[in-house]
Order: sequence, then C-alpha cells, then structure tokens
Amino acid sequence: MGVQEQYPFDIEAVRADFPILERNVGGDVTARGEGPDDTLPLVYLDNAATSHTPDPVVESIADYYRSYNSNVHRGIHQLSQESSVAYEEAHDRVAEFIGADGREEIVFTKNTTESENLVAYAWGLSELGEDDKVVLTEMEHHASLVTWQQIAKRTGATVEYIRVGDDGRLDMDHARECIDENTKMVSAVHISNTLGTINPIAELSELAHEQDAYIFVDGAQSVPTRPVDVDDLGADFLAFSGHKMLGPTGIGVLYGREEILEEMEPYLYGGEMIRRVSFEDSTWEDLPWKYEAGTPVISQGVALEAAIDYLEDLGMDRVQTHEELIAEYAYDRLSEMDSVEIYGPPGDDRGALVAFNVDGVHAHDLSSILNEHGVAIRAGDHCTQPLHEKMGASASARASFYLYTTTEEIDALIKAVEDARDLFAWQLCSEIAVGRTGRALSLSLILPQVW
Ligand code: ALA
Repeated sequence: MGVQEQYPFDIEAVRADFPILERNVGGDVTARGEGPDDTLPLVYLDNAATSHTPDPVVESIADYYRSYNSNVHRGIHQLSQESSVAYEEAHDRVAEFIGADGREEIVFTKNTTESENLVAYAWGLSELGEDDKVVLTEMEHHASLVTWQQIAKRTGATVEYIRVGDDGRLDMDHARECIDENTKMVSAVHISNTLGTINPIAELSELAHEQDAYIFVDGAQSVPTRPVDVDDLGADFLAFSGHKMLGPTGIGVLYGREEILEEMEPYLYGGEMIRRVSFEDSTWEDLPWKYEAGTPVISQGVALEAAIDYLEDLGMDRVQTHEELIAEYAYDRLSEMDSVEIYGPPGDDRGALVAFNVDGVHAHDLSSILNEHGVAIRAGDHCTQPLHEKMGASASARASFYLYTTTEEIDALIKAVEDARDLFAWQLCSEIAVGRTGRALSLSLILPQVW
C-alpha cells in the first residue's frame, strides 16, 4: 500500500482549510503573494519553526475582535465578562488537552522560551545554590540551554549535559550518572528540533524524582504532533507554543504542577496578578493569574482553543500517524541520495523533521536554491549551536512536516535537493577545469546568473 493510501484523514479536505498552501512564491517579497511574478507553488516544509493557521482559527480571532473584544478581569460590563469567560475557558481547554488537573496549572505566556524563563527566574533564582545542579541534554534548544546556563551563573549552581550518542539518542547510562543527589532540576526536550529524536521523558522523570528533583519538559515539537499527557510523562513542568500547533504567534503555555506553582513567587509584577496592594506590600492573585501580569494574550488564547478544537477533531492519534508516515517517507527518500548526511535516529523512530547536509553545499546555499524551487525549509543551527558543533557541522538544512504535508511535497524537496547538488557538482567541475579549487563554494552570489 502506498503512503497516500495510509493517510489517516482526507488530506485534501485538510489542505482546503489552509489557503496559504495554495499560494505561489517567487515574486516580489514586498507584494506578499499579490505580485505578478509569483510563479511557483509553495512547498512549505518549515513547520518546526512555525505551522500554518487554518480558517476556523483565523475566524476565531476575527470573531473575537468583531464581537467581544475587551480586557479581561477588569470590567463588569458585558463585553469584559464575555472575553473573561472565553479566556478562562481557553485555559480549561488546554488543561484537558494535556491531561492537567485544571486551569490552575495552565499559565499563558508568549512562547516556549518565555515559559522556560518563567520557571528559571521564578523558581531557579530562589531555589538554586552553589551545591546544586541542573541537568540538561546536549540536544537542548537555546531556550533551555542559555536560560539555565545564565541562571546557574547567577546562583553558583552547575549545569551538566546528558551526552548524545552517535545514533542521535541520549546516553541513558550517562543520564543515570548525571542525575544525582545534587540535582534540583532536569530540563529535557521531548522531541529534538534538530535530530528529531524522541526522548524517553518518563524514564528521565523517574530518575529526577528519585533524587527529589523536578523535571521541565520542552514540548515545543511534541505537543503539536502527538498525544501528550503530563501524567504519562511524569512532567512537573511542560512548555509549548501555540504557533507550532495551528495557533497564532504570541502565545505559549507553561504547565506546572499546582503545588509547585503555588509555592513559587511570580516572575513578572503588575496588574492582573495582584490581589491586594498597599504602599508597603502586595499579595498575589490565585493561579494561574498570579503568573499572567498585565493585559494577557486574550485573542491568542481564544485562538489556541480553536486550534486545539481543530486538532482534536482530526484526532491527535491520527495526526501522529500522519507525521510518522511523512517523516519516514522523507527520511527514506533522503537516505537514498548520494552525498546526503542525515542527523538523528532512523526514519521509523523520529519526530516530524529531518535535518541533513549535502556534501560541498552550505546549508544556507541549499536553502536559497530550494527557495528558487518554491521549497521552504530552515537552514542554520536551529538554535542548537553546541549540538551542531558536536555533529561536526556549523549548520544544517531542516525539512519539517505537519498534518497537511504530502508525499508529493517531499518529492518536490528531493528534486530540488538533487538539482542543488548537481548544480554545485557542475560548478566544482568548472572550477577544477579552470584550476580554482579547494574552497567551499557559495552560490548565493552567482544564482541570479545561472538560474
Ligand atoms: N524552535 C523553532 C525551530 O526549531 C523556532 O525552528
């Protein structure tokens, strides 16, 4: 049976909800799809950076602004009551989606990075000291790595990294060594945004809890793509972003176990998060509002609820099945190519992304040529510089998929990578013929002449 026959839902019906997938690219970027030169169909394979937004979610934002836009928890007029109820219900919906006990455990932030910072500042600054240790993995996103590194510098705590093996997986023997009686926090990415590795979070949680440490899970790539339950993971904290799961930018989620959030002090101060204020002191509002200072992300929260509705209508199990089919297909097609190095575990055991390099072609040049074919990928270090250093690559190209990705789009990627590889091989031959060799080529400069 072909991959298309195994799609767990009607992919054309799904794609019809995403008008952006119908647009062409290649013209004037200031015209944003309206210019006369837009000629190539878009092949969007940068979903790990941000996903697209289906019509029902766009409609939920428009409906909010058209019908009941108002600040929350500040007015007794009807619009404020309506927006307050909608905003609170959005917290309930997120709680239900990840198996949390209730809205008290769901804090809306700006993104995953802010959720990491909230815990690092609110908990880390007061709880960590010189004898304490924070254990990360070598595949952490900078959102976690840089944040804990800086908090450790301020508190005198140390940071240790669980090694990543050549197979792109965590060395769990090393994890058992690292997570010891001095460990106060383990922060681990659930699915690596570079390697695609699916980490054994439940096992890490057990190791952390045996030492009375907490575990913070970066779910930015997992929550959008598979069923995630905080109890199954054993997570004390879980962070993810709305814009990678069909929602808008500007909303992230911090899940925290209620008793821990109760104990922690706020990270931002101001309106919305207080109960009583005098000239001398202040007290804090109940959870989760204690951590949502100022006018919060109201329309974004409402839209995140609509995104969850969309995902659950499709079924997260089926979303996961689709991701797995496409990831394996892409991995297999790329593996068949000469001169391509893929990073991370095999195609049948990875998240919905593949990072790779083509011999002799810098990832930025590759991405630039793919863009000429209408194919959008990410190139660079994907906010994992130390991991790239360990991989022996300053950068990589990354194709990442979502519930609307088709095998035809993967075929378009492969064709574009082949063309880029051939173009560079041809260029290298010409250079050899005229006696100029021994350097990595950058075709970005000559592309306009050869294409
Ligand atoms: N963390 C996002 C990515 O991996 C932005 O692209």
